[in-house]
Amino acid sequence: MEKEQLHGLLYQALETEQGGIKIYSKALECVQNEDLKEEWTEYLSQTRNHERIVLETFEKLGLDPVVETPGRKVCRHIGQSLVKAMDMALAEGTPEEAELVAAECVVLAETKDHLNWELIGECGKKAKGDDGKALREAHEEVEEEEDEHLYHTTGWTRELWIQALGMPAVLPPPEEEKEVKTAIGAARAKQSRKEML
Ligand SMILES: [Fe+2]
Ligand SMILES: [Fe+2]
Repeated sequence: MEKEQLHGLLYQALETEQGGIKIYSKALECVQNEDLKEEWTEYLSQTRNHERIVLETFEKLGLDPVVETPGRKVCRHIGQSLVKAMDMALAEGTPEEAELVAAECVVLAETKDHLNWELIGECGKKAKGDDGKALREAHEEVEEEEDEHLYHTTGWTRELWIQALGMPAVLPPPEEEKEVKTAIGAARAKQSRKEML
């Protein structure tokens, strides 16, 4: 495995979690639906815990968490852009529109977060010794929550859009009701939405 590339990934993962805290904080200013508010409040506290887990992993691997990397800079830029997008929606749109923008921003952020952890899991399978153990332990703690963050929020975004378009929506979304934790489960949940209406 390319050690330098692995470290680059970990710096991106740290930046993604740190950006995620800001994104959820802003998304909570935009949210209208009470169930979604509860969900995102939980995800915000889980994201804070993920930041702590990544920092712990940095310590175990002997990495300095304040080092700047090109990949990390890009992650930060994207994260800041998502916060700015929500600010624009709050300033100019209706509350419902701001909520939709926030949901889309969370899906975009969680797509990257989910990818990071999937890759950290793959590295954990290959890496040997203490480094491998540290990666596997971190991945084990975080993986399931990242599945929920991505698949459940994707469901929320779709159903809130459907509601905004004036069509019958399943709220909370099927992904949430069925406690989806895999891509195939998310596809099945989406397919079952007609029966859940
Ligand atoms: Fe996370
Ligand atoms: Fe996440």
